Amino acid sequence: MYKTFYGLKERPFGKTPDPRFLYLAPQYEEAMARLQYAVEEREIAVLTGEIGSGKTTLSRALMDQNDGDQFVLVVNPRLTPTQLLRELAIRLDISPGHYRADLVDALSDRLLQLHQEGRGVVLVVDEAQLIPGKPTFDEIRLLSNFQLDTTNLISIILIGQPELRKRLAHPAYAALRQRVGMWFHLSALDARDTAAYVNFRLKVAGAVNGAVFSRPAMEAIHGHSKGVPRVINNLCTNALLLGFGKEERPVSVDTVNEAASEIVT
Ligand SMILES: Nc1ncnc2c1ncn2[C@@H]1O[C@H](COP(=O)(O)OP(=O)(O)O)[C@@H](O)[C@H]1O
Ligand SMILES: [Mg+2]
Repeated sequence: MYKTFYGLKERPFGKTPDPRFLYLAPQYEEAMARLQYAVEEREIAVLTGEIGSGKTTLSRALMDQNDGDQFVLVVNPRLTPTQLLRELAIRLDISPGHYRADLVDALSDRLLQLHQEGRGVVLVVDEAQLIPGKPTFDEIRLLSNFQLDTTNLISIILIGQPELRKRLAHPAYAALRQRVGMWFHLSALDARDTAAYVNFRLKVAGAVNGAVFSRPAMEAIHGHSKGVPRVINNLCTNALLLGFGKEERPVSVDTVNEAASEIVT
């Protein structure tokens, strides 16, 4: 197994989300700080980034960091407004068998109750670019109207691919846009942060710095992956498998190139 050969105790680029492997490159740290602020201020936040850039990972880290709050994760946002309300109701332990008006009242009461217990409610809609139509976005905006005096009762985090931002830029979404308290776009990692990311994961997995990928190999990892974490992970795993097959240590640039030609990005 390649792990032993490269001095690793576990798989450094595994697919299961594991907070120990969370690497807060500067932009992630900034994104986290701003998301945290949005949670505390009960604002609407919009987080965008290309596929595999780390959006879902950050939302999970945010959840871990606020474990006293009630997070409601919506991972399939192909929902009509009423379906969205029902989903929220179910997750907040309200029976969804109400008429719409009753549902809204029940939600309002529940949010108030949780607020009085000192628990915030955070609605996270992942892949929000898949929300089918404007009515569902309108419903999301209306959710932000639940207030006690001037205190908002719910934080809403919309996560999506870059087209989410494009969509919200349309004049029809002006009312929602005005409610958004924070916008953040996750970019790809630059060469330095890519190397730091890879080294961080290797170190958590037990490796000694520099012993796994040669320096040119590391540069090639950035070149092929364009700094997208999910692609970096796939590429590195593939390169380690190939390198192990050749008993090559550290993994060479040729092996990384070969690994890149085999993976679909
Ligand atoms: N900051 C990070 N630290 C560690 N791993 C990360 C980080 N960002 C992304 N990843 C890894 O990259 C992969 C893709 O991240 P993900 O959050 O699913 O991206 P997205 O939701 O933007 O498509 C995951 O396997 C994740 O573990
Ligand atoms: Mg995701």
